[in-house]
Amino acid sequence: MRRPSGPVFIALGAGLLAVAVSALIALYSMGGMRHDPQTFASIAPTGPQFQVGGSFDLVRAGGERVTEGDFPGQHLLIFFGFTHCPDVCPTELMIMASALDTLAESDPALAEKVQPIFITIDPERDTPELMAEYVANFHPRMIGLSGSVDAVAKAAREFRVYYAKAPIEGADDYLMDHSSFVYLMNPDGDLAALFRPNSDPADAARALQAIVGRHG
Ligand code: NI
Repeated sequence: MRRPSGPVFIALGAGLLAVAVSALIALYSMGGMRHDPQTFASIAPTGPQFQVGGSFDLVRAGGERVTEGDFPGQHLLIFFGFTHCPDVCPTELMIMASALDTLAESDPALAEKVQPIFITIDPERDTPELMAEYVANFHPRMIGLSGSVDAVAKAAREFRVYYAKAPIEGADDYLMDHSSFVYLMNPDGDLAALFRPNSDPADAARALQAIVGRHG
């Protein structure tokens, strides 16, 4: 996949952000962007009217139910994808892990306030156990979540995640098309930033430090 160039961290007002995200979602729905958005990397909205992300009701390994309410005081760094993904998902999970490790080097206490989470959009194959095994390859604190097809669809809708099965021609197999932004949710459950796929981990770490640090 190609590495987009350009500015990495752009702060926008809520109104502009809403417009930008709507445009991105429209582009994704049309299949025009997929894994290669060129527009921007990370945006920090403000205002309660901004409705991207929020609640989920999923399951982690061992059958334990997990919702957004289970992380009081934590910022949630969330990515949606699937374990059979050949390239984009592992790349994004590595970026998340690397950004967190970079933050932990300069400010371990602040890094502890960020909970990385990987949510599958392929629950038919990605069991909670498989998710746990998979995320352990990337970061020791990362949590992998799955759930029923309906529960996953509901979470994806909340986060405006686009996804669809992409059958592999000539094989009894499929991949998943999916949008690939990384979401940073603040402890109040509001979207704090949206990281473009292929963000630079050092830039992402700086953004995390600024946003999580500002929250106190
Ligand atoms: Ni993927």
